Amino acid sequence: MTAETSQKLKNAQQEHAELSNQLHRHNYLYHSLDKPEISDAEYDKLMQRLLQLEKNFPQLVSSESPSQRVGSTPLDSFPQAIHASPMLSLENAFGPEDLREFDTRLKRFLARDKAIEYLCEMKLDGVAVALTYENGQLVRGATRGDGTSGEEITQNVRTIGAIPLRLQNDYPQQLEVRGEIYMELEAFRKMNEQRREEGETTFANPRNVTAGSLRQLDSKLTASRPLTISCYGVGAISDSKPRSHSELLASLRRWGLKVNLETVKVAADIEQVIERYQELQELRDQLPFEIDGMVVKVNSRTLQQELGEKSRTPRWAIACKFPPRQETTLLESVRYQVGRTGAITPVANLHPVNVSGVIVSSASLHNWDEIERLGIKIGDTVIVERAGDVIPDIVKVITEKRTGNEQEIPEPSECPACGSPVLREADAVVPRCQGLSCPAQLKESLKHFCSRGAMDIEGLGDRLIDQLLRLELVKSVADLYRLEKEQLFQFERMGDKLAEKLLTAIDASKQRPLERFLFGLGIRHVGSHLAKVLSRQFGSLDALAAVNRDQLLATHEIGPQVAESVTRFFADPSNLRVLKELKQFGVAPLATEQLRGDKLSGKVFVFTGALERFSRKEGESLVEAEGARASGSVSKKTDYVVAGPGAGSKLAKAEQLGLTVLSEEEFLELIGKES
Ligand code: IVH
Repeated sequence: MTAETSQKLKNAQQEHAELSNQLHRHNYLYHSLDKPEISDAEYDKLMQRLLQLEKNFPQLVSSESPSQRVGSTPLDSFPQAIHASPMLSLENAFGPEDLREFDTRLKRFLARDKAIEYLCEMKLDGVAVALTYENGQLVRGATRGDGTSGEEITQNVRTIGAIPLRLQNDYPQQLEVRGEIYMELEAFRKMNEQRREEGETTFANPRNVTAGSLRQLDSKLTASRPLTISCYGVGAISDSKPRSHSELLASLRRWGLKVNLETVKVAADIEQVIERYQELQELRDQLPFEIDGMVVKVNSRTLQQELGEKSRTPRWAIACKFPPRQETTLLESVRYQVGRTGAITPVANLHPVNVSGVIVSSASLHNWDEIERLGIKIGDTVIVERAGDVIPDIVKVITEKRTGNEQEIPEPSECPACGSPVLREADAVVPRCQGLSCPAQLKESLKHFCSRGAMDIEGLGDRLIDQLLRLELVKSVADLYRLEKEQLFQFERMGDKLAEKLLTAIDASKQRPLERFLFGLGIRHVGSHLAKVLSRQFGSLDALAAVNRDQLLATHEIGPQVAESVTRFFADPSNLRVLKELKQFGVAPLATEQLRGDKLSGKVFVFTGALERFSRKEGESLVEAEGARASGSVSKKTDYVVAGPGAGSKLAKAEQLGLTVLSEEEFLELIGKES
């Protein structure tokens, strides 16, 4: 090695170490403390630089590099992992009476009258894991399995941003920490929405997709899922002797692990536990994640030891379950929805039923794998469940109620919208309409192109798009820019002023940034995030249209599936024709960097209530485009709360904390959209 290369390597090592430290720190601030100091874009920039260094100097890559969160080489199978001590489960209680009985039992066992201090934690509905840290470094992640041994899923847990790759402060040399990996409801909703946009099938509920994501042999897939964790205990710990469970949780947080400490409550006696149980049941609907009960633990570690455990459950803890938000109803029929990419999704028409205050009359059946898994038929009596604010779900069929008249749910052989043949590819879970001019697909594509996250053409909603199609004024997105005022007068309730406004909005969309335009084109597998990645990497539409598969694959976050889809899109003569027309009409998208203002950089927004001017997702895209971030829950770290009609507890909390509350109009004004 020449002196010059040796110096270069040294510089790279130093920069790499500094970048790693910065990334670890920002990761902790963002995931564990929900207190980010930089915007997502700034974080991405640091990460890009780190990846660049590691590409030039592969010797810098280590298992604790922040780059390792993107996933690594797929495995053939998961090795077995034996737990430091058994991963126990919990006995169940179902209400105040059971809790009092639990308390009495413990006092009898301990032969004491004095009140026992308890710790009340939420019972998260996710997947239990054990994480092993040696000398502060994450060396292993494992599933619970049968309690004694599980599967080693280290590569997968490494991809989860909320799991530190190394501990900080006064961490113990040996630690096996336990926690629940889960997905927040908002992230789940967003992910499903994005999958829908990308023409993928949607997932049934956060718990299923969490379990599925952790069981992926290809950790890149896990990396793409918005998972998080909450730690609630330890299996083994050296050096440290916390006196109480609450002290242990505080230590875990200090060592950099994520603990939902704010929701943990110390109760002086069982009556306070019961109060908290009732409080949590009321809070349940407003939480950003799904919980199915409360876990009650004896707080003193000495008492815990004294109480010990039975064969599979500790004596010192109990899970007090909430009544399920489930009802029984009849699946009357099934309808089919055709998406933008032709994917045909089955939707159950249910006999309307009141599920804890909400009338439920339909539920997505997602796909034919799900139909098969549930073994569901038309005419079946089913159990529907509401989880948070997620669309209701059919969880089970009551086969005992069958009369013999139930019918299989047919897979359509032709498109319900255009009658074209449908095709279900070998590994696909839904059939797709093959019609080139399917009106349902065209309608969904137009709606997508005009939506706020894409070209943001105000006023061009469902109703107008329907009319444009009915009058055959629009056959592709380019035709929107061909529209003239007189043509619009053919529409119902369209006056001069409204027509003028619409044309101005269409005209204004010509200046949208490249990422929004790319997203609006609806290239398969390219959702808003990847549109941003492509825009940042290639800078212009012409540059992107000219790239080949290898150049795409060399881009961070772009895999073979996306590369294939992008090249196919730009190789299609009819797509090129539309793009050429758009260009002729003056649609001139530029990369965001040239446009973005940073007045809201790093700010945190929370949207609440029934928003009327834009959807929650659109609001999120708007703030993200300004370098800010949207969060699901209100805290001291929130900068703005945007409240629509009917806003409840989040608004109350915002007011209590003295945060800035904006109406939808004020919000639009703040981000520079006219109100
Ligand atoms: S404590 C020895 N705390 O519920 C204590 N468990 O059957 C064992 N869970 O497998 C668990 N939130 O996956 C504990 N705050 C919490 C929890 C929790 C969810 C899950 C965990 C466990 C199951 C209990």
